[in-house]
Amino acid sequence: MKQQKRITFNSKFGLVMASVGSAVGLGNIWRFPCEAGEHGGGAFLIVYVFCVMILGLSVMLAEFFLGRASQKDAVGTFKVLAPGTMWKITGYNGVLAAFLIFGFYSVVSGWTLEYIYQSATGNLNVSSVEEFTGNFEKFTADAFRPVVWIFIFTLITHIVVMSGVKKGIERTSKLMMPLLFVILIILCVRSLMLPNAIEGVKFFFKPDFSKITSDVVLSALGQAFFSVSVGMACMITYASYFNKSINMPNTAISVVTLDTLVAILAGVVIFPAVTSFNISPSQGPALVFITLPNIFQQMPFGNLWSLIFFVLLAIAALTSIISLHEVVTAYLHEQYKLSRNKATAIVSLCGFAVGVVCSLSFGVLSHFKIFGIIIFDLLDFVTANLMLPLGGMFICIFVGWFINKKVLKDELTNNGTIKFRLFCIFVVVIRYVAPIIIALICIKKLGLF
Ligand code: PHE
Repeated sequence: MKQQKRITFNSKFGLVMASVGSAVGLGNIWRFPCEAGEHGGGAFLIVYVFCVMILGLSVMLAEFFLGRASQKDAVGTFKVLAPGTMWKITGYNGVLAAFLIFGFYSVVSGWTLEYIYQSATGNLNVSSVEEFTGNFEKFTADAFRPVVWIFIFTLITHIVVMSGVKKGIERTSKLMMPLLFVILIILCVRSLMLPNAIEGVKFFFKPDFSKITSDVVLSALGQAFFSVSVGMACMITYASYFNKSINMPNTAISVVTLDTLVAILAGVVIFPAVTSFNISPSQGPALVFITLPNIFQQMPFGNLWSLIFFVLLAIAALTSIISLHEVVTAYLHEQYKLSRNKATAIVSLCGFAVGVVCSLSFGVLSHFKIFGIIIFDLLDFVTANLMLPLGGMFICIFVGWFINKKVLKDELTNNGTIKFRLFCIFVVVIRYVAPIIIALICIKKLGLF
């Protein structure tokens, strides 16, 4: 049978932007500052950088290997590289995780659109934090409004993914990611000019090592995986569109570095703003949707700053959700031979349905709890704390132990044409370090010890 030539990204810049687009998301701008704020600022940052640079990077490179070597979707990868084995379950785990994350991610993405709308129409003007909180809770519990925003967000995602890898994903990422960096830098400068900004910077960068507990390490690792989009086949799917001359180790380093840079810059935007207005930085998820807009309102041109900030958040969310969509779309398209349009439509419709259920779990379905938590939190917990780390662990074990070392080295060095000096260290990490640490974390998270 003649094999069809696989579509590839057009340029190196395009594929780096697409991968960075997947990695940089709500995780960097929403989740990271919350986690850092709750876990002692600078101390968390150091542990996080360590986790992301050693483990996140290695798992990403392992995924790049799988995708480019097999040129297949998440499940197809395992069918090609380990035919007739159970390894394909790792692929199914990835596809399912992507689909479930898509569901709850679309809810928060929808919120960003509401806040863009509110800032643009000047409706964020309220006088007290209580009023902000009340408005936020009323909005998220509403049965209709958030669903409309989820619909719009899913529709935009649908159009991008349907337009294909080059014309949709690559083009959008090439446009959006540089814009995201520009916005982020503008916001950093603004934030650093606030009175007392230095206190926030200190909180964020000055490590208090007494705060490093096992809990901090666990949160940092979970955050690292979520943030660089590994453990669930996203990077496998994207790497299957890399052409054979791409230097994968360098690409992985660029993606992880840029992702970490965005998380740090987001901290530089948020913490000075928070301390400048005398608010505690350990606020949890309310930080971005309640505290920040409230702070912006107290600055001159408050609505404008809110608008810019939520556009930033929406862009970050869009390029990530596109990658989640693509994982499932590629799977349906390749494994069931559906046309790309049909596969995209199915994912959009089903994803929208999950999104609606998640959104309703803040309102009419809030009494419906599984293991004592609402559906939104359940999906967040199960994907981020179980499916992603376990997926990452099995990906490492597979690549580390079941792939012939020469095959691995040849693929990662483009048949010896590029240098990869840290290859031995990489192998040690994916064989031993990553699986052991991840296993410990899962056990701990599940409260088994
Ligand atoms: N990395 C994204 C973020 O930081 C989330 C994500 C996870 C996207 C897994 C794709 C796959 O928000």
